Amino acid sequence: MESAIVRPFEASDLAGAAAALIAVHASDGYPVEGVADPEGWIQSASVLAAWVGEMRGEIVGHVSVMRPQGVDAATMWMEQSGDDEEHVAVLARLFVVQDARKHALGERLMRAATAWAQEHGIRLVLDVMTKDASAIRLYQRLGWVKIGEATHSFGDDQRIDAVCFAAPDA
Ligand SMILES: CC(C)(COP(=O)(O)OP(=O)(O)OC[C@H]1O[C@@H](n2cnc3c(N)ncnc32)[C@H](O)[C@@H]1OP(=O)(O)O)[C@@H](O)C(=O)NCCC(=O)NCCS
Repeated sequence: MESAIVRPFEASDLAGAAAALIAVHASDGYPVEGVADPEGWIQSASVLAAWVGEMRGEIVGHVSVMRPQGVDAATMWMEQSGDDEEHVAVLARLFVVQDARKHALGERLMRAATAWAQEHGIRLVLDVMTKDASAIRLYQRLGWVKIGEATHSFGDDQRIDAVCFAAPDA
């Protein structure tokens, strides 16, 4: 496979990232809450920074760093570490389309986000659904530490098990 570029998200990437998300939802059921508004899910006021993977002009992957409000892993980390909200953010919206997987694009997107967080003195945390096994393997391979478990609620009273991770020390 031709290698992909990882670069900061630009406004003109939104439609391509939304198309990639719809494909990932069809193949993996991610995100569990569905993709009724893919552009709104990717781009919101909570996003602090984001990156895309691009191959031959197409968006094939995405990750963002988001404010910590309402995320189980962020609450857990702040309780466990004593860090305040200014120093914690959430690695979120990580996805790579199926055809571009297993070429370290997920890893490179993670590294872009973690480098940004380190530059800003921010600890990254994340929630991942227990069913998303390849994502969990990726986090563990990069040294992320499990800090707890949670139940994620979505839709009409639906619930799903999640695991909470924190990035390792720089
Ligand atoms: C999780 C996800 C982003 C990983 O993307 P990816 O680009 O395939 O990630 P990587 O290539 O870095 O790693 C995936 C695997 O490929 C392997 N790999 C990486 N480079 C490779 C190479 N050159 N040759 C062979 N294998 C390689 C990795 O070792 C890893 O192996 P594993 O599955 O046995 O653990 C992707 O599977 C995805 O989008 N899943 C659905 C959405 C999701 O779960 N998102 C996370 C929500 S919290």
